[in-house]
Amino acid sequence: MDLDDLYQEVILDHKRNPRNFGPMPDANRNVDGFNPLCGDHIHLHMKLAGDVIEDVRFEGEGCAISTASASLMTEALKGKRVEEAERMFEAVHALLTEEDVDPDLGQLGKLAIFSGVRQFPSRVKCASLAWHTLCAAIQDDGDEVITTE
Ligand code: FES
Repeated sequence: MDLDDLYQEVILDHKRNPRNFGPMPDANRNVDGFNPLCGDHIHLHMKLAGDVIEDVRFEGEGCAISTASASLMTEALKGKRVEEAERMFEAVHALLTEEDVDPDLGQLGKLAIFSGVRQFPSRVKCASLAWHTLCAAIQDDGDEVITTE
């Protein structure tokens, strides 16, 4: 199976059965992320204990790529320190936007499949919506809606 097949399979799997989807009553960070190009939105809930992401969940309506990205992101972030999460964000951002990034970057694991999105510039915002929302949650931007413009 090559990376393109894996991409299709993983995206569809996480769209049909998103992980960590639903409310989190004891979250201490809640941020809305919004893609103004299509109207899709996610609500990210996070429970930070010191600088450790104890739990992270999401809700909302989005396309297959944005839902799968949020689902895979939440899987990857649980138990991580904020510093590691920020490094992951930078690696994902580079993967989505820079031509010469190696998709086998060790720290990204399954997230490396998003290198396929780079071929479709209009979908980069779909894949990065959850990650931009995460950044706002880490920076404690409160309940403000953010955009990916
Ligand atoms: Fe709206 Fe992908 S089409 S986030």
